[in-house]
Formats: sequence, structure tokens, C-alpha cells
Amino acid sequence: MTAWKNDQVSEVETSKIIELAREALKLEGDFVELGCYKGDTSLLLAEVVKNTPHRLWLYDSFEGLPEKTNSDFSEIGKDFQKGELLVTKREVKERFLRAGFKVPVIKKAWFSELTSEDLPSKIAFAFLDGDFYESIRDSLKLVEDKMVPGGVVIVHDYTNEALPGVAKAVDEWMRGRNLTLKKQGSLVIIEVK
Ligand SMILES: C[S@@+](CC[C@H](N)C(=O)[O-])C[C@H]1O[C@@H](n2cnc3c(N)ncnc32)[C@H](O)[C@@H]1O
Repeated sequence: MTAWKNDQVSEVETSKIIELAREALKLEGDFVELGCYKGDTSLLLAEVVKNTPHRLWLYDSFEGLPEKTNSDFSEIGKDFQKGELLVTKREVKERFLRAGFKVPVIKKAWFSELTSEDLPSKIAFAFLDGDFYESIRDSLKLVEDKMVPGGVVIVHDYTNEALPGVAKAVDEWMRGRNLTLKKQGSLVIIEVK
């Protein structure tokens, strides 16, 4: 496995993501990342799905983070701002080409603007990394009906106190659903039945 530098996701978290992505190869369904930023994790996922029938789909505003809502304010840690983490779709595309990968499906949009048609019909693996409450809430809503049994949804920053909206969105979504959460670093892993 190529060692890409990943400044958004820790090494332990990255290893877990890749382990679970490899396991998801046995399922029918594609791989998605909502909130791909400059594509560090995406490149690793591209390596996992290389030479398999699974396709990788990436989503980002490519305008950086959206406006925070009240659920996102925290006294702790870094103060994330609107427009932060901005890269262009072209930069991400070029990274894939430079690395010798097939360019994945890359969609530029706010998650709230995406519809069911923008996502693959079956998802085996979903990595949600949108940092804010509405971003995670909207991502969960987009993938929930597409996940295949045994599929996995991983949400980054669940235990990150600087990004309280992530846990709020996940906890709200989990209510009334008979699913178990597993934590690894700041990740939360949801196995779909
Ligand atoms: C922490 S970065 C993602 C890091 C990436 N997953 C990685 O592993 O390197 C968060 C990304 O989510 C995107 N984002 C956050 N909320 C969004 C939203 N509501 N719609 C579209 N993109 C969003 C931002 O533009 C940013 O690129």
C-alpha cells in the first residue's frame, strides 16, 4: 500500500479505514467519500478498488467548508471557518492522474444539493468527512438507503470535541435504528445490517 501523507486523518484511523474498505470488497456496491478535500484518503481508497468492479465516487463543495450552524460552535481546539479547506476539483483530478489512477467520479456540490441520482445505486463503503452538523446529517441521509447489507459507514471526527456537530448528527441519525457503533480514534464505524 502506498504511504500517502494524510494531514486530515491520523495514521491509526487511516489504517482502520483501509482495513474496512478492503473488507467491503467482498460486497456488491461502490465506495463513496463525502468530503474528499484534496484526496489523501481518496487516493488510498482508489488503490483498494483498483482492478476490482467497485467504483469510487467523491463529493465535495470544492469551495471549502460551509457556514457553521449553532451545533458546530466549540470552545475547544481549532476554530474551523467557512471557506477553509478549499481545493479545486481540477487539483484533485490531477493528483489522481499523477498517481497513475483512473480518475474516480468526482462531483462538485454542496451535500444539501445532491440527490439520490448523484450517488451510486448500491454502496458497500461510505466515508463521511464533512466536519459540520448539517454536512454529516445530509451525508447520512444521502447514503442511508443505498447501503448494502454488511456495508460500512465510517464518520470521521465523531469524538472530536472541536467539531461537536458531527456527533450530534450521528447520534440523531442513530436514534430509533437498531445499529451498533464502534469507535476507533475519532472515527465512528456503523455496520449496516
Ligand atoms: C476534513 S475535509 C475532508 C478530508 C478528507 N476526507 C481526507 O481524508 O483527506 C472536509 C471537506 O468536506 C467538505 N465539505 C464540508 N461540508 C460540506 C458540504 N456541506 N457540502 C460539500 N462539501 C462539504 C469541505 O469542502 C472539505 O473539503
